[in-house]
Amino acid sequence: MEPQLAVKGGKPVRTKTFPSWPRSTEGMKEQLIHTLENEAWGIGSSVVEKFEKGFAEFHDSKYAISTNSGTAAIWIALKAAGVKTGDEVIIPAYTFVATASAVLMANAIPVFVDIDVETLNIDPEAIEGAITDKTKVIMPVHIAGNPADIFKIKKIANEHNLKMIEDAAQAHGAEWNGKKVGAFGLGGIFSFQSSKNMTAGEGGVIISNDEEFINICFSYQNAGRVKGGKWYQHEHLGGNFRLSAFPAALLLAQIETLEIDMRIRDKNASFLDKAIEEIEGLSIIHSYPETTRVSHHLYIFRYHKEYFNGVLRKEFIQALNAEGIPVYVGYVPLYREKLFITNTQEYPWLQNRNYSDLFLPVTEKITNEEVIWLKQNCLLGSEEDTMDIVKAIQKVTNHFMNN
Ligand SMILES: Cc1ncc(COP(=O)(O)O)c(C=O)c1O
Repeated sequence: MEPQLAVKGGKPVRTKTFPSWPRSTEGMKEQLIHTLENEAWGIGSSVVEKFEKGFAEFHDSKYAISTNSGTAAIWIALKAAGVKTGDEVIIPAYTFVATASAVLMANAIPVFVDIDVETLNIDPEAIEGAITDKTKVIMPVHIAGNPADIFKIKKIANEHNLKMIEDAAQAHGAEWNGKKVGAFGLGGIFSFQSSKNMTAGEGGVIISNDEEFINICFSYQNAGRVKGGKWYQHEHLGGNFRLSAFPAALLLAQIETLEIDMRIRDKNASFLDKAIEEIEGLSIIHSYPETTRVSHHLYIFRYHKEYFNGVLRKEFIQALNAEGIPVYVGYVPLYREKLFITNTQEYPWLQNRNYSDLFLPVTEKITNEEVIWLKQNCLLGSEEDTMDIVKAIQKVTNHFMNN
């Protein structure tokens, strides 16, 4: 007889929790104590410098400037790219709010475009259609750590004399064509906020191969100061967006250990992919052929209710939650957030822009009906933990298919 669903009072597949996140390591503790007792805690700290150098190298780029958040890193990168009031920045509609809010903070206009249903990344063809004479930057997001179509987007950017800045906030260690993401265009940003695969609680970084760009980033990050200039010499409207030495110490330790976690996530994610691909009515997220590594910041798959007697995603998620699997829905189309119901008092440069008219079909469909998320720490368990996810999905899909 078919086992009863936990949501209907049956025995759940799993009662244990998944590995918690963030988690400390001996290496982190050592770096923290060393910094506490021996190093400058802020400006001029050699720990910050070591981290920046180490992260740039680790991410196959020449330069890095750390920041106190990923949001600040985007704002700084846009300002340093020369984005001015009223300029347009093309971004995907399926991303975290900061991708767009940092554009607004730079007095620029976020232009939302639709995504590729197979990869959930910004659709290069939709980018072409969104370019105007006000466009300055294209900012793809490597969503969930799955690289966007970098070569195509870079080609479009070059053809139209635009800058490409990668929002790699979720993509630590992800690779495109054998090279780590982030510095394929003018530069890229990462976040080290608590949920991220590499974290210091908060923090961010900008990487680039362009020295001039990174020096201007330094200025916006550091009160408008000038690299090599005097202490009281301020040439840009910068702020204090500097990273303290303590998060830098935590991050320095993780450059060494990220690979270990990545291998575990890779193994468990490919196990899940294989199992989910076999279930009619669910689909996995694909990568572009040039992708050589996904960082699996989230594990995302798609649910198609027509295979399950019309049972809504909401009920599928409730049933999986009851089985002990903490899946959830994730983002809404970003342009639907109240923030983008244009307030021309607050954003005078958004006059004549009406986001409420926007309807991007792929983003709408996948957010309203299909995508299901699992956080990266659920991929850090044992084979048995991952098997529990598969068993729960099989149990619930079998039930919905047959009832
Ligand atoms: C895609 C994306 N962009 C930007 C950010 C902003 O980073 P932070 O939270 O560090 O400001 C995040 C993460 O939170 C993100 O996921």
